[in-house]
Amino acid sequence: MRMLLSSDDLAAGLDRLAAQVRAAYGQGPLTVVGVLTGSIVVVADLIRQLEGPVQVSMVWASSYRGPATRPGELKLRLDFLPDLTGRHVLVVDDIFDTGLTLHALLAELGRRGAASIRSLVLLRKLGRSEVAIEPDFVGFDIPDEFVVGFGLDCDGAWRHLPYLAVLDEAEIAAARAPASQDADGRG
Ligand code: IMP
Ligand code: MG
Repeated sequence: MRMLLSSDDLAAGLDRLAAQVRAAYGQGPLTVVGVLTGSIVVVADLIRQLEGPVQVSMVWASSYRGPATRPGELKLRLDFLPDLTGRHVLVVDDIFDTGLTLHALLAELGRRGAASIRSLVLLRKLGRSEVAIEPDFVGFDIPDEFVVGFGLDCDGAWRHLPYLAVLDEAEIAAARAPASQDADGRG
């Protein structure tokens, strides 16, 4: 495992993102919609730097393919969303890779009468996008490598790392051994 962004790098990135979000929304009301499971760390760090009143909700998305390059079928679960009518909504995800997840999610949320919808991602992989949209706020652009930590997983593991690391081929192969599959809501 090779460290790509240290805890200090990530904390500085979160400070920058939070400053941009505060500049955009000030002390006005905001609904933060985090995408489970990968965004949990970013959401926790971000919301504690916002002014108020901030409402927090989570949706679930998974296009899980482990470290494979192509996403699998995209599944979305929006059951726990509050009424978004008239709300300013900020969708928060861990990483913008092909962009298909964010694209589909923004389309779904766009049908719910929000006053505005913007998106924030901690990471964006360079040269991977397959969609016409870009996130409004981006923490870091990173090379096209498979990363774990700070919320991001490899077959369910490594979300807890306080830094961001690149997995090498052998580590990816080990994570993909048949018995390593788990049943949690990955994504
Ligand atoms: P997209 O739909 O291709 O943009 O993929 C977004 C989702 O794929 C992210 O929310 C992650 O769950 C997952 N993903 C993409 N790249 C990585 C990675 O390098 N490590 C871990 N998860 C990833
Ligand atoms: Mg995800």
